[in-house]
Amino acid sequence: MQRQFDRAVEDTGNVILLEHVNFTVPDQVVAHLFYVSGLGFTRDPYMDFGTLGIDNFWVNAGETQFHLPKGKPQVFRGTIDLMIPDLDDLRRRLDQVGRRLRETKFGFEVHDDHFAVTCPWGNRFRCIEPPADSRVGLGIRKLDMQVPPTAAAGIASFYHTVLGTPAHCENGTARIAMGTEQTIDFVETDGVIADYDGHHIAIYVADFSSPHRWLVSRGHITEESDQHQYRFQAIVDPESGATLTELEHEVRSLKHPMYARNLVNRNATQHFFAFHRGRETFVP
Ligand SMILES: [Fe+2]
Repeated sequence: MQRQFDRAVEDTGNVILLEHVNFTVPDQVVAHLFYVSGLGFTRDPYMDFGTLGIDNFWVNAGETQFHLPKGKPQVFRGTIDLMIPDLDDLRRRLDQVGRRLRETKFGFEVHDDHFAVTCPWGNRFRCIEPPADSRVGLGIRKLDMQVPPTAAAGIASFYHTVLGTPAHCENGTARIAMGTEQTIDFVETDGVIADYDGHHIAIYVADFSSPHRWLVSRGHITEESDQHQYRFQAIVDPESGATLTELEHEVRSLKHPMYARNLVNRNATQHFFAFHRGRETFVP
């Protein structure tokens, strides 16, 4: 008798990884307080922009990153789910940085299974313990983005048709697979959605040229960045061509020099008053 397995749950579509979210932030010290000291992520030690982090810095979160160049605050139109081990220790860190962030939009609420955390400029995060099936155990797990009524079906069709990744639509939500354990949910709302302010996400794709060919033929490429990267912004109905929502995507090939590079992650429960020699590195 052969053992039986559901082989389909192992499938991965063309999108391999949602690697980073890029927000411009007006104050790099405040951003450091929130993302590094508060959330417990790690400043990328290998990527320096020659200005001591005054103009830009990157923050590692598992296999994902936040890119935080200086500029007017940008806000994602929805919620970002973050896997953070040890929510009790997260609370200690948020209490600590909260004292320095009183004059900002920073805040957090403790729920049974997550912390709802707002960044100093209004970005909303859901911090969860890493699910048992997570190989990574840290970082960006899911984006929930608000879209207008009736947009979700066309958005699912766009990601399936153009980017070649599993996508389906149910009850006004388009769920898009991003690699092995990440998703983007585009959720229809009757409420007011803020204008798009230019924040972006970066994804790695195995088939790099087919989406490019489709997007070029319809005039949707916004930047031919270099050999390994292009950008698009409009998410359109593949049938009608109508723009359904906007979110700039940096699309990278698997030959991009930064693909799967080593991202240093520290164990954020370590600190000056509770230091355990040898436990400095994050282990999933
Ligand atoms: Fe980027």
